[in-house]
Amino acid sequence: MAAVVALLLLVAAAGGARAAAPRKPVDVPFQKNYVPTWAEDHIRYVDGGREVQLVLDKTTGTGFQTRGSYLFGHFSMHMKLVAGDSAGTVTAFYLSSQNSEHDEIDFEFLGNRTGQPYILQTNVFTGGKGDREQRIYLWFDPTKEYHSYSVLWNLYMIAFFVDDVPIRVFRNSTAELGVRYPFSQPMKLYSSLWNADDWATRGGREKTDWSRAPFVASYRGFHVDGCEASAEARYCATQGARWWDQQEFRDLDAAQYRKLRWVRDGYTIYNYCTDRDRYQAMPPECKRDRDV
Ligand SMILES: *[C@@H]1O[C@H](CO)[C@@H](O)[C@H](O)[C@H]1NC(C)=O
Ligand SMILES: *[C@@H]1O[C@H](CO)[C@@H](O)[C@H](O)[C@H]1NC(C)=O
Repeated sequence: MAAVVALLLLVAAAGGARAAAPRKPVDVPFQKNYVPTWAEDHIRYVDGGREVQLVLDKTTGTGFQTRGSYLFGHFSMHMKLVAGDSAGTVTAFYLSSQNSEHDEIDFEFLGNRTGQPYILQTNVFTGGKGDREQRIYLWFDPTKEYHSYSVLWNLYMIAFFVDDVPIRVFRNSTAELGVRYPFSQPMKLYSSLWNADDWATRGGREKTDWSRAPFVASYRGFHVDGCEASAEARYCATQGARWWDQQEFRDLDAAQYRKLRWVRDGYTIYNYCTDRDRYQAMPPECKRDRDV
């Protein structure tokens, strides 16, 4: 019996570094961390800003952004996406440094006809280079309830989570593979809702049905826990000292990798790493992706 227990412990320990789930976000009102970016009159505030709704109609979409810029941290949003016929609409939640050689970490939700599944597309840009799309279906209807979408970003990895399920990791492979990694350009968070019926749904074949407008996406949470830096800063003043820098957040743990595998096997519909028509040679960072 003791031997069996010891063996199980050994197997568990060999499964990977002991990692921890990111700290539980604290919900705050919109105004604490965010301001409107464009079309302010298409943003509705509910409950003193604890809930915010973005409204898309034929005249315009809208968006908001953080007040501050951040180098590393943990960022999450509770979102309830456009319900019913959302074909042609895109709702995005992303970090970006917005400069010429920009870094960017994206969640993009591509709407669909009533009852048809949304696609969640993610991407990572480093030094202005993107083209790293992955697309999944979700295992729930994202228009029914709020779900959390979050990013943990430190010097070691960028992990994308849907609720507590990691759906993607982009590891820092600068040392081994020479792939650029976002580490020196502060980013703001952005969210927007707009019409993209030239590409969003079934490759642009399904158009936005304006008779269903206005389209509404709802937000809560507005959690930001990052190292705030001026937009020109090259490093975070507290680098290495914050909770997300610590050993247990430098990689996913075995249980998290199992969840990631579950997403890969059951919900992935596109992965640039396996797109042979587009990339004859597999992009270098995918080699690390593959050992997952
Ligand atoms: C991560 O990336 C930065 C910049 O690309 C590099 O200087 C650093 O050594 C990398 N760290 C690890 C753990 O690979
Ligand atoms: C929309 O639904 C169709 C049919 O089920 C599906 O092929 C497509 O992937 C869905 N999502 C988008 C964004 O087109």
